[in-house]
Amino acid sequence: MPTPHIAAQPGDFAPDVLMPGDPLRARRIAKVLTDARLVTEVRGIAGFTGTFQGRPVSVLASGMGVPSISIYATELFRFYGVRRIVRVGTCGGIAPHLSLGDVVVATAAHTDSALTATRLPGVHYSHAPSFALAAAAVSAARAEEGTTVHAGPVLTSDAFYSEGDLLGRLAAHGTLAVEMEAAGLYATADAEHGEALAVMTVSDLVGQDVEMSADERESTFERALRIALAALAHD
Ligand code: HPA
Repeated sequence: MPTPHIAAQPGDFAPDVLMPGDPLRARRIAKVLTDARLVTEVRGIAGFTGTFQGRPVSVLASGMGVPSISIYATELFRFYGVRRIVRVGTCGGIAPHLSLGDVVVATAAHTDSALTATRLPGVHYSHAPSFALAAAAVSAARAEEGTTVHAGPVLTSDAFYSEGDLLGRLAAHGTLAVEMEAAGLYATADAEHGEALAVMTVSDLVGQDVEMSADERESTFERALRIALAALAHD
């Protein structure tokens, strides 16, 4: 039965879903899958299901931010039988030892989003991924030639344009990078008894005027995708 944001039928999604932020990326990922078919396109958020090395895999974009990813992840877990969602995205490096193109496996996600705080008042909720997926992703990333992988906490922020020195202070507390979705995905997976992980490429270094070329963005994204698919290949 279609949901408010997904027009697919029951069984249209595979138990494993790749979730980029960008709907155009979702279309590009679908081209990597075998026999990918379009299963939903509400609001231009196209979802596809196909196979990768013989395993069924779907892809659906999350849009940007905790509310958006929470909607799509909830509907996939709750109504479409999805069991595992891996976010493949980008993040801004804040720890001094990160470089452009490095891979970050978010083993925890701090957040300034109020979503879990309002749902579970009185606790500082720990937004954590599936350990099995995180361990598989780290070992897949280590096997990638010329790749530096960092496993550690990120900040999931509601604000792309932030003010003040929160990021500097978090970096001093061991936080690697900032992005906008992981904590929402992890909390949703917990609430829906699913599994989740965020694997991200460092696309910028916060506070430094450095950028990746289009080619670098493409090759680093492909690497994050390979790592995510390898993580999903482990049961
Ligand atoms: N901030 C938030 N989200 C991001 C960033 C950033 O600098 N880079 C990529 N995603």
